Amino acid sequence: MLTNRDLEKMVDTSDDWIRTRTGIEERRIAPPGTTTSDLAFAAAQQALKQARLKPQDIELIIVATTTPDMLFPSTSCLVQQRLGATQAVCFDLSAACSGSVFAMITAQQYLLNGRYRNALVIGAEVLSSFIDWTDRSTCILFGDGAGACVLQPVKRGGILATDMGSDGRAADLLYMPGGGSKHPPSHQSVDQRLHFLRMNGTEIFKLAVRRMAESAQRVITTGKIKPERVACFIPHQANVRIIEAVVKRANLPPEKVFMNLQRYGNTSAASNLIALYEAVKTGRIKRGDHAVMVAFGAGLTWGSILLQW
Ligand code: ACO
Repeated sequence: MLTNRDLEKMVDTSDDWIRTRTGIEERRIAPPGTTTSDLAFAAAQQALKQARLKPQDIELIIVATTTPDMLFPSTSCLVQQRLGATQAVCFDLSAACSGSVFAMITAQQYLLNGRYRNALVIGAEVLSSFIDWTDRSTCILFGDGAGACVLQPVKRGGILATDMGSDGRAADLLYMPGGGSKHPPSHQSVDQRLHFLRMNGTEIFKLAVRRMAESAQRVITTGKIKPERVACFIPHQANVRIIEAVVKRANLPPEKVFMNLQRYGNTSAASNLIALYEAVKTGRIKRGDHAVMVAFGAGLTWGSILLQW
């Protein structure tokens, strides 16, 4: 665990600044040597146990991540190997913080067209490996984590409506320049610190509010449900001020919004799935309840899911 007080010793910041600007109090940092597939595997095991499925039952594994173990093979293939899910088709999905919502919607398509009946969706990140721990404007925001869910076809309930969008024109607002074909790793790329995340926080803030509010409203309209019938809203856990602004703009009931970013910070592709898990575990979402997941991330990407648990 890394608290705001710990960060005070690393960069010129304060617990008060971080709390008031972001709502974050602490975040989880994976021990050195821990990989994204390690976290993904642990979350997958829990999801399979709860779904009472064996690894061999799984036909599709999608890992949403911005921090794969390696550029290739996919982290999902590494998880497949660890699980022994020999019957599964595996691929990773890159949609930054919208990753788990995009992956759930992608898996849903295979269930709807009858191709697969048991899909495992995982959002996992070891962001701490890609954070510049000398940059106070970014290092305070993020944490490591993983969440997972099993999707199966259902006759009633489940995913009722979805919404997705992207805008590559704003790709330069949040990105990691190094390590890919544009700037392959070299002494120069390391000297220039290209292998760390870079962000224009103010612009991202404004667009996150606008896009998440619009997406939440669209999925509610598409799902033909009154907002007051939604038991729980699960926004991407980036910043309490972003969430409050989304709630205001989309006219959502604040008391129904789930937040756990105080404890985890922004875990990117893992964020919505960890929050969904905790919302169910703490009784904020009960069987038969409607819930709305809303995500936003680099790309830009955004998306929402209306589901009935
Ligand atoms: N501690 C103390 N001071 C800081 C820190 C820090 N950690 N970081 C920045 N500051 C200073 C700045 O240098 C600036 O000082 P100045 O006025 O002397 O120039 C001052 O605080 C204000 O900086 P701003 O960037 O204007 O602060 P702002 O209120 O916009 O908050 C923040 C910054 C928290 C990054 C905000 O812009 C934000 O949350 N943006 C969204 C970013 C985000 O969530 N990204 C995640 C990925 S996308 C997603 O998940 C939605």
